[in-house]
Amino acid sequence: MAKQHIISRRMVLGGAASLLALIAADHSVALALARPRRQRAPHDARIERLIAQMTLEQKAGQLTLYADSNNFTIEEGAIPVNPTANNQARRDIIDKIGKGHLTGLFSGQGFNDAMALQRMAVEQAPLGIPLIFAGDVIHGFRTIFPVPIGEAASFDPELCARTARAAAVEATTHGIQWTFAPMVDVARDQRWGRVAEGAGEDPYLGSVIAAARVRGFQGPDLTADTSMLACPKHFAAYGGVQGGMDYNTVDIPETTLRETFLPPFRAAFNAGALTTMSAFNDIGGVPATANHHLLTGILRDEWGFSGLVVSDYTADWELVPHGFAADSRDAAKKSLMAGCDISMQSGLYLDHIPDLVRNGEVPMRVVDEAVRRVLRVKAAIGLFDNPYRSLDFAGTRARVGNADLHALAREAGRQSIVMLKNDDALLPLRKSGQKIALIGPFGADTRDLMGAWSIYPDFDQAVPVDVGLRSSIANPADLVVVKGCEVTAPIDGGIAAAVAAAHAADVVLLAIGESADMAGEAQSRVDIVVPPAQQALAEAVAATGKPIVILLRHGRALALHGAVKNAQAILATWFLGSQTGHAIADIIFGDHSPSGRLPVSFPQESGQQPYFYNHRNTGRAQTNPDEPSFRSRYREVSFAPLYPFGHGLTYGSVEYSATTVSSELLTQSGSVTVTCTLRNSGAQSVREVAQLYIHDKVASLTQPVRQLKGFEAITLAPGESRDVHFTLTADDLAFVNAQLQHVAEPGLFDIWIAPNAHGGTGATLRLG
Ligand code: BGC
Repeated sequence: MAKQHIISRRMVLGGAASLLALIAADHSVALALARPRRQRAPHDARIERLIAQMTLEQKAGQLTLYADSNNFTIEEGAIPVNPTANNQARRDIIDKIGKGHLTGLFSGQGFNDAMALQRMAVEQAPLGIPLIFAGDVIHGFRTIFPVPIGEAASFDPELCARTARAAAVEATTHGIQWTFAPMVDVARDQRWGRVAEGAGEDPYLGSVIAAARVRGFQGPDLTADTSMLACPKHFAAYGGVQGGMDYNTVDIPETTLRETFLPPFRAAFNAGALTTMSAFNDIGGVPATANHHLLTGILRDEWGFSGLVVSDYTADWELVPHGFAADSRDAAKKSLMAGCDISMQSGLYLDHIPDLVRNGEVPMRVVDEAVRRVLRVKAAIGLFDNPYRSLDFAGTRARVGNADLHALAREAGRQSIVMLKNDDALLPLRKSGQKIALIGPFGADTRDLMGAWSIYPDFDQAVPVDVGLRSSIANPADLVVVKGCEVTAPIDGGIAAAVAAAHAADVVLLAIGESADMAGEAQSRVDIVVPPAQQALAEAVAATGKPIVILLRHGRALALHGAVKNAQAILATWFLGSQTGHAIADIIFGDHSPSGRLPVSFPQESGQQPYFYNHRNTGRAQTNPDEPSFRSRYREVSFAPLYPFGHGLTYGSVEYSATTVSSELLTQSGSVTVTCTLRNSGAQSVREVAQLYIHDKVASLTQPVRQLKGFEAITLAPGESRDVHFTLTADDLAFVNAQLQHVAEPGLFDIWIAPNAHGGTGATLRLG
């Protein structure tokens, strides 16, 4: 039943104030402040009536989204997210809204005047179609949760759902009804900067997390004031850019597209996502934004997706520099005809669709269908019943930056930390009785800890590493903080000061790695290492002989060298967000055992990229690093990672028994139970992430050496043993064959329950 919404005078005035200040003389705004009409008509019928009444310009307007550039005051210290291409003057935006020539706005830094703009759209513009307000709420709004790759390391989909829900509850207090998230691109090359935004290299993990994030953002009721429409992106295969270079071409076979890159999207749509964003890249020569096979053939015809496709930022216009469209008119035609419904930021649809239809180059039914999809999505989030949903900011303050959000950010932070190494049980440290030197550019930093795509953060709430550590130790004077160097440059006397601090300490924590702007959009790196200035700092500090814990900050897997690689303990801490310091302290001092697992393989060298655990075998695989040549390997390093996918240590010591299967034969319609006994022989209770892998030994296409098919986290007290069970069916063993069919071919399979992609003692299973 349609909800009746009371619009208070305060809401109206508060929401309108900044807009009125900007365009005080604009008569249309004053008109927009009249009482809202109530929308009651059944939506489908209403949508059809609207389409029948709309002018071509209004239709094109429903397919046009612009950045609310004038209302976008980026927080000082936040990283700019987009080029300023084609930013519209505020007056032009108002003019378009007044005519019904705009579907919505994005990137507002909180849509302070959204209420007034919406009133104009609903009350004054012809046909009164509500606007939609969007933004990139990727890993939090004011309260920032770990960067998505970090949170994926939690191997905890429920946690991902909870942080997405919390982000939605916070962001909707500022009028954001649609987030351009989750980013579900599988990333197989760590040189690509956008690895930071996704869930890593594995399609199974990526799918589970994609679905969880969609559930979280959207909540149980899409029309609720606190729900945020999800937009899994970037459709598709953006993570397959050649050489890991952003925006580059993607050249993969259709089998790989379907097996590796598409599953997280499918999972996101199955979880209820109603929108998706077309990618910048081309695939085999056809840009995704004009790719009919992708946007219509697979998405709509095969999968039955009924939602909308929005282009990435000016991606439709980019068909011209791609050399796929002759000019912007041609680009508009090609992307619309392919199935891209909304043009983001370029304005191409508004400029060209009316004329393209009038000239008979684009059929009206294609435009109508795109408009229908857009209006249905607006209806689905309740905009026709209550166009002011999420725009009433009165009374929402308590939903922002509160203690529950901080606690969740801290929990998510510590769950995302992966302990890569802990020689001689250096960790956990004692809270008293030892002097700690915290050295490195990220020891006291309050900016970089947020990570890429945190565009609305409350920097005042940031807990840097030093503050978190100091609040956990008995005597604050036991912690000394020395920067040592900048992220990419030495500091005069920095190394000397760091070495002196190390000499005076019992243990050194080295807070080093990447800055936030090194791991994000357009931030591909040729060499995925700790920057040289910091490496030099690490070498000098290591020469003191003091025990070293590396607190690695990073948005991708890195190739670790020298003193960093050889440190006694290494924690992968990604960009942990607002509660970084507390989250790290929780692990460092043993209040919680680390439990994160790598969602990306750490290579030995940058030159191994693209490196991913689930690669196919060659005919000359290197099975033994000491083997002589004529093997698939590099001269300098073995074909092995430094730390494999799935790796992560705990403060316990968990042993895995050999894997067993309930039957050695699996029928096409049957199932088997796979079991392993895990025993914690350590002295501390742990959360252990047991992982199920398969390998198809002989198939009509060569198969990955291992593939993740399930995981389960269990808690094990010291000395405790527990069985973990997984159920396998033929479907879990299926792959996409050369005819693009999803088939489970009879034959032998290796099955492992293991602590990472390289471990475990496998069992054999025959599929009948
Ligand atoms: C990015 C998208 C983002 C959009 C809007 C683009 O540059 O690729 O992920 O949602 O900008 O900010």
